[in-house]
Amino acid sequence: MRTQGITGNFTEANVDALAVAVFKNEKPTSGILRDLDRITGGILAATFKAGEFKGDSGEMALIRFARKGKVKATRLVLIGMGEREEYKMPGAAIVAGSAARFLRQRNIKSFALLPRCDGYSVEVAQNATQGVITSLFELDKYKTKDKNDKTINTFVICIDGAKPSDLKEGIARGTAIGESMNFTRDLANEPPNILTPTEMAKRAQAMAKEVGLKIEVLDEARMEKLGMGSLLSVSAGSTQPAKLIVVRYDPPTNTGQKGELLALVGKGITFDTGGISIKPAENMDAMKYDMSGGATVLGTMRAIALIKPTVPVMGVVAAVENMPDGNASRPSDVVTASNGKTVEILNTDAEGRLILADAVAYAEKNGATRIVDMATLTGAVIVALGDINTGIMGNDQLFVDEVIDCGKEAGENYWQLPVGRDYSKLIKSDIADVKNIGPRGKAGTIIGAVFIQEFIDKAKWTHLDIAGTAWADGVRPYQAKGPTAVAVRTLIKLIERSQ
Ligand code: BES
Ligand code: MN
Ligand code: ZN
Repeated sequence: MRTQGITGNFTEANVDALAVAVFKNEKPTSGILRDLDRITGGILAATFKAGEFKGDSGEMALIRFARKGKVKATRLVLIGMGEREEYKMPGAAIVAGSAARFLRQRNIKSFALLPRCDGYSVEVAQNATQGVITSLFELDKYKTKDKNDKTINTFVICIDGAKPSDLKEGIARGTAIGESMNFTRDLANEPPNILTPTEMAKRAQAMAKEVGLKIEVLDEARMEKLGMGSLLSVSAGSTQPAKLIVVRYDPPTNTGQKGELLALVGKGITFDTGGISIKPAENMDAMKYDMSGGATVLGTMRAIALIKPTVPVMGVVAAVENMPDGNASRPSDVVTASNGKTVEILNTDAEGRLILADAVAYAEKNGATRIVDMATLTGAVIVALGDINTGIMGNDQLFVDEVIDCGKEAGENYWQLPVGRDYSKLIKSDIADVKNIGPRGKAGTIIGAVFIQEFIDKAKWTHLDIAGTAWADGVRPYQAKGPTAVAVRTLIKLIERSQ
């Protein structure tokens, strides 16, 4: 796709269609809507007047009009965005993505967008470009027939009065972010027979080479030497060896605080059968996405390698398969993690926390002062928050608040749950330091978090439970059903803020 920015007259762009954000109960009597009404010969006003389009969010309409004068397009697409006051920066990605999917569906190959979004034009252009790129992602990689063969080949973003250099920068950033989100989504969608831990490490290596990141892949022998008994207890039941993928971004110049290092740590369970505490057959297939946290780490690292912020970032992905063979760990096994803590495994299906224990400890041992971990950790978070909010918990309120705030700017929702001594007590084991589950049916998401917290020493730490938000069960106007790459945009904001 060719992406281009213009600052001048939007209605004269050389494209098949013009797309515009429309707010609730707007009248086409002034500004851009009046201009658009004129070029359509009054069809826009008539459409509004007849009540055929109200500007509600999710509403879309296509108007065909006769070409005249310098106007090259022959279609106008209205994208309803609801209340004007509620339309913020992330709305630009939604408008752009909704327009792109709507037009592609109708075989229209080029369009110009007027996002009508206030704010810094680099960011508007970035959001719109990312929105188009992520909107066109489909799950048809393995189809040999009925593949989506339609595409948008030209996207023109129009921001009145913007500096051309800002548009260029925004488009470059939006392309980097959008393609990196799609990289994350492609990984999350991969079937587990193809995306084994070894394959995930290979994809990470290819990506690191492509964008210029340092990468190291620790095999099981190395992890054994480092004493990662908790992580290795999960891979024990699989013929697929575990991999600890460590990616590093070092900035050309470091403007961050001396000695500070942010680490992103991801759960990369390439398939979660539950192990000996095996899951029921129904919906077990969904567990291919159990490496979404790891995929988010890799996608975010990819994006920042391209955007080049001035602070270092470390990415750690624990890639492991949870299977129930003769070597699998049993409920009642006791293992020792790399920080010396002993863990009584009472449910082998609470495996995400077992691998993250060693992964966060590794990050901190290797210099991390702030850690964000991402994991499809608990079914309980889906019960609590659905697919709307990501559960967030942490040991430092200012850090948690900062991540939530970055999410607001990025258009990603977080809802905090508490942690603390009273919850931590619930994972005290009778025979070891901690057990990997709490009382049945109680505070499941928090228990997962406080378990991971046991393996953090001094670092500031935030935990994101993305089990509900990493996968969309249905298609959205701006996005295919399936993997969402949730948290990538939030994390990029967080990294850029600490520059
Ligand atoms: N990967 C699952 C979490 C999950 C479950 C995500 C369902 C999406 C849908 C995780 O490894 C798991 O199995 N968690 C258990 C924990 C329990 C055994 C304490 C759960 O949530 O049931
Ligand atoms: Mn599990
Ligand atoms: Zn799992």
